[in-house]
Amino acid sequence: MTGVDELFRAAWAAREHARPVLSGYKVGAAVLAKSGKVYTGSNIETGAAKVCLCAETCALYKALSEGETAFVAVVVVAEREDPIPPCGHCRQILSEFAPGIVVHSENREGDRKRWNLRDLLPEAYSFGRF
Ligand code: THU
Repeated sequence: MTGVDELFRAAWAAREHARPVLSGYKVGAAVLAKSGKVYTGSNIETGAAKVCLCAETCALYKALSEGETAFVAVVVVAEREDPIPPCGHCRQILSEFAPGIVVHSENREGDRKRWNLRDLLPEAYSFGRF
């Protein structure tokens, strides 16, 4: 079973592939699916300024597009004073596909935080399954 340390290592490695052409801010992520497979992601920004993909969503979309349907944990890494939580957009996306997921975050100093997604996005909007 993949542990959190391994997920963090994968996320830091994925962060090297970030494309923060607008913000210069690199973020990495890794998602652990219930299948046991790990999917990584990095943030990708484009010249079309509003078209940006967060690292967590990148990792989740990779997993979804490979057929994964159930998820255990997502980790996110960035160089900030405090470990960053996922942005509001990512919280909504995660809540639609992985409502019970645990979110872990780490900064470069190795400080860690963890949250249940349900606590980060209580009363989440849901369109329902379609
Ligand atoms: N970003 C992420 O990848 N994940 C987050 O949870 C917060 C923000 C990215 C989006 C954008 O490319 C850059 O960080 C600055 O906000």
